[in-house]
Amino acid sequence: MNVLSPLPKRTSRLKLYKVPLCMIFSFLLGCMFAFSIVPIDKTCRIENADIEYNIMKNSKLKNPELIILILSAPKNVERRNVARETWLPLKDRGQENIQDSKKFKVKHFFVIGNLGLNSNEHFNLNVEQIKYNDILLLPIQDTYQHLTLKVLKSFTWINEQFDFGLDFKYVLKCDDDSFVRVDNLIHEIQSIELLYLKSKLSSVIKISEENKSPYIQTNIQINNNETVKNLSIYWGYFDGRATIKKHGKWKEENWIACDRYIPYALGGGYILSKNLITYIAKNVDYLRMYNSEDVSIGLWLSTVTNILRIHDVRFDTEWASRGCQNFYLISHKLSAKNMRDMTSNLKQNNFLCTKEQFIRNFYRYNWSALPSQCCNIKKKITL
Ligand SMILES: *[C@@H]1O[C@H](CO)[C@@H](O)[C@H](O)[C@H]1NC(C)=O
Ligand SMILES: *[C@@H]1O[C@H](CO)[C@@H](O)[C@H](O)[C@H]1NC(C)=O
Ligand SMILES: *[C@@H]1O[C@H](CO)[C@@H](O)[C@H](O)[C@H]1NC(C)=O
Repeated sequence: MNVLSPLPKRTSRLKLYKVPLCMIFSFLLGCMFAFSIVPIDKTCRIENADIEYNIMKNSKLKNPELIILILSAPKNVERRNVARETWLPLKDRGQENIQDSKKFKVKHFFVIGNLGLNSNEHFNLNVEQIKYNDILLLPIQDTYQHLTLKVLKSFTWINEQFDFGLDFKYVLKCDDDSFVRVDNLIHEIQSIELLYLKSKLSSVIKISEENKSPYIQTNIQINNNETVKNLSIYWGYFDGRATIKKHGKWKEENWIACDRYIPYALGGGYILSKNLITYIAKNVDYLRMYNSEDVSIGLWLSTVTNILRIHDVRFDTEWASRGCQNFYLISHKLSAKNMRDMTSNLKQNNFLCTKEQFIRNFYRYNWSALPSQCCNIKKKITL
């Protein structure tokens, strides 16, 4: 039945249309307004079904040079807030006067598994996500047994974003108790690029062999020194002599590779070039995951060519801190108070440490020696 047909005159018919027309018009206007205020990142396309990955939708991520993956846990909201408040803002420090297009862009994500959480935990994470939009929620259980899977899944995710148009150069993996001098790290990355990635390979090999830096010892793995254009970077504090853990939380029950772990950069913070992220992500179905994520990465990358490995004593990234030194780029195993102190020290006098402190020796890495003899050159802080 047509409800409009009994109306006698055209004018009254128009009158009747007015209301719905107005409504439709307001709706369209509203839509246009809504679309104009919601920042849609054109560099990234996200499938609607990808609810876990929805983080990209509102992000201002525009091809950062560096992506920082901070492994966190659902309940560690305090640690995340401390990182947000203390060291993450350092990414802008020293870049205030640089033109936007020339800035070294850094984007961070806290990586959290949200499978099996209760509704309260889901709710809290969602509230946090709405506020900061910097959490990468992965559909896995967030336990230490799944740490390697977590790293693997986040690499896969980053790599998928690349297919959606996201570009980046490096990934730094760290933990939510790591403190990164992002401002200085940016400079270091740029000088490594200049010295090792943008120079002629013959001079790069020479620099590496001469090994004049007090902080870093490098090694280059290549098949053909005439054809390599760009080296990939694997950068951190390396260990080549660690014996296989047979007991405890980190025991490896099925390790057959060797009687030591394959040289790997310790998990408190290490940097990988995009190529290596892609390599790992593409082989995700073929890689054996070991208990320790950092050990796994070392093993997986052991066969890859065109890698520049950088052992850096400024990465205080072991199982316990070696103390505090003002030249540190990454410190690990810190409390909220440590991080707040460091930040206020930086603000006040541009030094990291309240007092430089030396708990354990660091070692320089001898890349010419057998891995089990890699790390004998102990040094006090005389650089
Ligand atoms: C490249 O490798 C060959 C064979 O090992 C060596 O003779 C040559 O000096 C190397 N060239 C450079 C530029 O290092
Ligand atoms: C090497 O790196 C430069 C600068 O980062 C880049 O423009 C170029 O495409 C890279 N070349 C290869 C073969 O990957
Ligand atoms: C590194 O190891 C090699 C081989 O064992 C040795 O000849 C060399 O002297 C070592 N380098 C340093 C700086 O100790």
